[in-house]
Amino acid sequence: MSATQTIPVITIDGPTASGKGTIAHLVAERLGWHTLDSGALYRLTALACLRQGLDTELESEVERVAAGLDIRFQHPAVFLAGQDVSEAIRQEQVGNLASQVAAMPGVRAALLQRQRDFRIAPGLVGDGRDMGTVVFPDAPLKIFLLADAQVRAERRCKQLSEKGISANLASLLADLRARDARDKNRTHAPLVPAQDAHIVDSSKLSIDETVNIVLDLWSGVSFPTA
Ligand code: DC
Repeated sequence: MSATQTIPVITIDGPTASGKGTIAHLVAERLGWHTLDSGALYRLTALACLRQGLDTELESEVERVAAGLDIRFQHPAVFLAGQDVSEAIRQEQVGNLASQVAAMPGVRAALLQRQRDFRIAPGLVGDGRDMGTVVFPDAPLKIFLLADAQVRAERRCKQLSEKGISANLASLLADLRARDARDKNRTHAPLVPAQDAHIVDSSKLSIDETVNIVLDLWSGVSFPTA
């Protein structure tokens, strides 16, 4: 076992808008652990490409941007080259481009070690698509968080309207289905549950209920700490 493998990780993977980020933060808060929002790294790559006016069809260029990202996380704020981009990376246009650049193997490879560096004592909760399958395959607890597409689109619509952003439910649902299909069907690190993941369907669960399910599962795990 390597030194970092003695640091526990809970992975929470799942489709877009399944509530992974919210659940990951609340679980981490309850345990006093760190978090990794891995989707933010793909969103930051996409935003940096847009800001540099890059042709995102050129994989080697996108890979160069991913490898050289100057970023800082200061929850809930995210900085790119010293500038607060917390709102900018959440735009639908950036999310859609993030899902495209995330299909590029060179981009995923460029971001791999950066993600593993988040594994710091006393523990990490990482959310994304391949946390349990690729980034932290030895994680002692893996969750795959599902929710109906309709429920996810309604949640996203509500989130946006709370922020005063007008949103159309039908187009959100179509976007979300397109993104799910792209994330599931790509060749590299597709969105699939790890073989040893616990599948949790949150369609009919509240946030608190979902957090408690994850914490209950964690309390049942025996993890050898150093
Ligand atoms: O979780 P999110 O919506 O912020 O992620 C944005 C995009 O990044 C998503 O469409 C797919 C990609 N992603 C990924 O491929 N692997 C991850 N571990 C996290 C996100």
